[in-house]
Amino acid sequence: MRTTFLFALALTGILVGVVLARDRAHPRSATARLGSAAHLTNEAEREASYWNEFAQETLRAKVQEAAKAGSTQSAKNVILFLGDGMSIHTITATRNLMGDSSNQVSFEKFPYFGLSKTYCVDRQVADSACTATAYLGGVKGNYGTIGVNAKVKRYDCNNGQNPANFVDSIAKWAQDVGKDAGLVTTARVTHASPAGVYAHTANRDWENDAKVYQNGGCSAKDNVDIARQLVEWDVGKKLKVIMGGGRRNFINTTVNDEEGLPGHRTDGLNLIQDWLKDKQANKQQAAYVWSKKGLSLVDLEKTEYLLGLFASSHCPYNGDLERSNYKLVKPSLTEMTDAAIKVLRKNENGYFLFVEGARIDMAHHDTRARKSLEDTLEFSRAIEHARAMTSEEDTLIVVTSDHSHTMTINGYPYRDQPITGLSDQLADDGLPFTVLSYANGPGFSTTYNDKTGRSKISAKQTEDVRFEYLATVPLDSETHGGDDVGVFASGPFAQYFSGNYEQSNIPAMMARALNIGPFANL
Ligand SMILES: *[C@@H]1O[C@H](CO)[C@@H](O)[C@H](O)[C@H]1NC(C)=O
Ligand SMILES: [Zn+2]
Repeated sequence: MRTTFLFALALTGILVGVVLARDRAHPRSATARLGSAAHLTNEAEREASYWNEFAQETLRAKVQEAAKAGSTQSAKNVILFLGDGMSIHTITATRNLMGDSSNQVSFEKFPYFGLSKTYCVDRQVADSACTATAYLGGVKGNYGTIGVNAKVKRYDCNNGQNPANFVDSIAKWAQDVGKDAGLVTTARVTHASPAGVYAHTANRDWENDAKVYQNGGCSAKDNVDIARQLVEWDVGKKLKVIMGGGRRNFINTTVNDEEGLPGHRTDGLNLIQDWLKDKQANKQQAAYVWSKKGLSLVDLEKTEYLLGLFASSHCPYNGDLERSNYKLVKPSLTEMTDAAIKVLRKNENGYFLFVEGARIDMAHHDTRARKSLEDTLEFSRAIEHARAMTSEEDTLIVVTSDHSHTMTINGYPYRDQPITGLSDQLADDGLPFTVLSYANGPGFSTTYNDKTGRSKISAKQTEDVRFEYLATVPLDSETHGGDDVGVFASGPFAQYFSGNYEQSNIPAMMARALNIGPFANL
């Protein structure tokens, strides 16, 4: 069969080449199929010389990087980009969403790559809370806890509020030596990953005072909620940039935000006002903004402190942002990253910036793979933009993920088939299946129904952005995966990040590159 296939290719020769000369950035729709002879996307790939030259080019870049790695100058700035739930499969599939498997997302072009082991102290498959303590504080903790060691179990009111159990983050190490720190996320700024920058809590759910009692029965007086820690505690107070969603955790249930949505606090505090008052009392130039327009009016060259809360809860998925009027009122991750760097780079001592593409994870939980890949693409754009705004000479950029997901790439799809579509072959029951599928999750109801068993999925269905990809086990929310995640690095001491290591080793390597904190090269 293979011989016939190649013979047919030889006959169609030049014609195929012409058909295939297309824009890689525009993937074919799920229904458009070429004839059986045309499943390559790049005619040059038939020549061994194409692959040999490709290898030479890669080798040349590696040799040059190794030569550069001899530098001993400490990094001035570190930017940590966290793709929440961004598994290796997610990155691979995003290359294909860009048009073809031969693409690379921006950070895959970084010179150094390693694998991080993501398990937490009490679980093999981690969540975004215990992993944040690892990649920001250098210590592994228990599932559901943030910024505390493993003596604290989730919901433990007493041990959770004992400062002896607190784990400092690299943001504090940076602030302690006169660098600035900031955070950007597409989730609520009080969500698990960004909270790792500034909070210490026995439960990731304690984002406002009401939750401390509702979700664990602790007292909000002793177990200060995450939003209050951000505004009132030392590290949070000193953050120069805080951008993302989550207004509802800053205002009372009796107060509506700028978009008319009520708060979730019950203690009457208005933490947005409190944040502004604190800065004004100290005669600091501070700006609070809630919209894209508001952000565009801020003088970033003068502003010392920037608080941007662009949604009541999370910021929209990037695909939804681009497909709707949201793009007129809400900034993208790239736009928030741009503003953050402009504020932070004014400090001549340098900065630590945390940027999270948070919703890659949330789309996976819904088994909506397409949205997850779209958010990965925007995450990649934000990184490319940050690399262009900064210098490889003084700014270390590290890109990683907190944990994996259960999505896999399966079947033997032809090169020109969209990865979001159906596999070309049928399963043993005569029914089609999708190239992307999950081990568990809400997509189970797309896969099976009580009456007829496995469902007949059409290519058309997979073109809907809300399509829930096939899942083997029924679960309301798809789970994380336990496999290692990638670490991509560029800039001073990027070579530290090659190899396989514990996720909790990452802050030590970043701190050594900056020569700060407990891992400084004293
Ligand atoms: C805040 O909300 C709670 C109920 O959720 C209410 O009892 C309280 O009066 C409110 N506080 C203020 C200052 O409005
Ligand atoms: Zn998750």
